[in-house]
Amino acid sequence: MNENKVISTSQFPEISYTVYGDGPPVILLHGFPLNRTIWEDVASDLADRFKVITPDLPGAGDSPFLTERLSVEDMAEFVHAIIAHEGLEKVIIAGHSMGGYVAIAYADKYPGNLAGLGMIHSTARADSKEKKEQRMKAIELFRKGGEKHFIHQMVPPLFGNGKGYDTEINRLISTSLLTSSKSLISFYNAMMDRRERSSILHKLTMPVLWVLGEDDKVLPIKDLTQQTSLANVNYVYVYSDCGHMSMIEAPLNLKNDLADFAVYCYSR
Ligand code: MLT
Repeated sequence: MNENKVISTSQFPEISYTVYGDGPPVILLHGFPLNRTIWEDVASDLADRFKVITPDLPGAGDSPFLTERLSVEDMAEFVHAIIAHEGLEKVIIAGHSMGGYVAIAYADKYPGNLAGLGMIHSTARADSKEKKEQRMKAIELFRKGGEKHFIHQMVPPLFGNGKGYDTEINRLISTSLLTSSKSLISFYNAMMDRRERSSILHKLTMPVLWVLGEDDKVLPIKDLTQQTSLANVNYVYVYSDCGHMSMIEAPLNLKNDLADFAVYCYSR
């Protein structure tokens, strides 16, 4: 059984999220430009052992756009509002890509609340100069109404082997097209301005899960491996035949590895 909830706080008038199952809490954050539906299969599967919470980050799915000058810290506060509302003391937060940028911002601000941190095809580093320039150009494109073209170009390479995923690609394009251009701009601003956080990894006392796709073209494995040994306890999984979307490309591995990680984090 899962339950869709909408709550509000003075900072966030509308926060939409889904709660699956019961048990120690695991919060799964979606990436750009997706929404909580990306986690449906994984969340349903984990729900027999965990209370899984999947928010729509502000401006995605059913959570309304907040501000063009959104930050990963704002989104971490948004997640914190859910944690407070649910009365949770310790949680695991695992984020996919942009969701990981939010998860590590949360770990930076509220380390004591985390039993574990999951970085699923994500990085603790900030954007490079080139990446920021690409984002600026994309923001200009979104302002001119070019978001449809952008999304059609960006989704297929998320998969390691574009062939064979036509149905999933079409589904992800449809999901992505639900995100308004002003929300796309706000997410790009948040990602572009995010701080470098690999330097905080050594201070984190909670275990950190790293999931890497061998064929990830968004965050290539060679740019990620060094940081996967920086925290005190690291669970590192490298999936072969997988790009940026293990919840679709390697769902069984991801479910099992998330569950093992969560059991370990809550048994310490
Ligand atoms: C994502 O998958 O969330 C984004 O592609 C991440 C990014 O653009 O850095």
